[in-house]
Amino acid sequence: MKKNILVGVTSGIAIYKSLDLVSMLVKAGYEVNVVMTENATKLINPLIFETMSQNKVYSDVFERDMDSEVKHIKLAKNADCFIIAPLTANTMAKIVHGIADNLITNIVLAHTKKMILVPAMNVNMYENPITQKNIEALKERHIVVSPDYGRLACGDYGKGKFPTTERIFEEIESYFVKKDLLGKKVLIGNGATVEDIDPVRYISNYSSGKMGNELALCAKRRGADVKVVCGKVDSDYRKFEIEYIDVKTNEDMYNSIKENFDEADILIMPAAPVDFKVKNKKDFKIKKTENFENIELENNIDILKSISEYKKSQFVVGFAAETNSVKDYAISKLNNKNLDMIVANDVSLKDRGFGSDFNKVNIITKDSEIETEVLTKREIADKILDAILEKIC
Ligand code: CTP
Repeated sequence: MKKNILVGVTSGIAIYKSLDLVSMLVKAGYEVNVVMTENATKLINPLIFETMSQNKVYSDVFERDMDSEVKHIKLAKNADCFIIAPLTANTMAKIVHGIADNLITNIVLAHTKKMILVPAMNVNMYENPITQKNIEALKERHIVVSPDYGRLACGDYGKGKFPTTERIFEEIESYFVKKDLLGKKVLIGNGATVEDIDPVRYISNYSSGKMGNELALCAKRRGADVKVVCGKVDSDYRKFEIEYIDVKTNEDMYNSIKENFDEADILIMPAAPVDFKVKNKKDFKIKKTENFENIELENNIDILKSISEYKKSQFVVGFAAETNSVKDYAISKLNNKNLDMIVANDVSLKDRGFGSDFNKVNIITKDSEIETEVLTKREIADKILDAILEKIC
């Protein structure tokens, strides 16, 4: 059944951005109801929110057109998720003190679940110690999305900007995910490493980093504390406040993973480290007029194999991207690298794997194997996390 999102809109200048949020939620298939403060209706005509949400907008506690039930109680009960965006300093203060003087603040008192609150205001109002104290109080029971930093509507620079719609949308999606990885520290090695030939040329590979990004996002949604040690990637999820540590070479990736490995509960390694490095690397650009000498390669460190030597209670997951004898190679890597799990896939197929949003994998441990369908990388990430949870619980 469609989840019901109740969007509370107060009179912040960022109010026009919450139209985007409502539109994004409707497009994603949520049922959306909007409630506005009276001041908010002076900034934007409720008709626009009504058109976007495809539902009647409410702003008056005493308006009698909602069946025979008490309006604020019904709206509070029906909401699977109640989000207030933008949230002004004034409404924030009222919520902290239990003041119920309009429809939104009445619903707040009647709503029994955690809310998502999106404060947006001038930097001085945001940094005011009273506002900060109120935010701390609200964080004890609710999710408070931190505002962005930047140029504010009044011309000042600072923290207080309405976050991107994408970030708020992600908070809502995450709201409905079971927090079964809460308290777990997940370390992810992602992307391709890069080995220089000279200052302008390098050896690397086609890894896009999508699988690692999806694993990071799904693990965060499930409550884990996530760190991504990241080489060359096409995109990342820093915008969702996931911690990324940038690395370049195999040695950098090894050092960073080693540094963070002790405190990790789970290490997942969809990274594509380069297996060779250049022995006769040049510190200057090789000119085409010069006599080329051959590029001499030497073996690079096997990160997983070396890290596994420091394994205590960590659960370590490797990946095996193969073009033939997929399962056989995967099982030999599981054993040789002392892994707890290996995720194998066939990269010879054009419709999945490298760069694609889709994949089909075999999740293999010493005593089990799960073969997935062709799924999105996000769905695969959840399957891998499910399989890990089953083994560590
Ligand atoms: N890996 C690693 N260090 C390397 C190479 C690979 O830690 N130098 C990790 C990968 O991140 C992956 C797993 O080991 O999780 C298997 O990587 P893969 O490239 O499939 O295998 P290799 O060990 O490099 O062996 P080969 O290239 O011969 O298949």
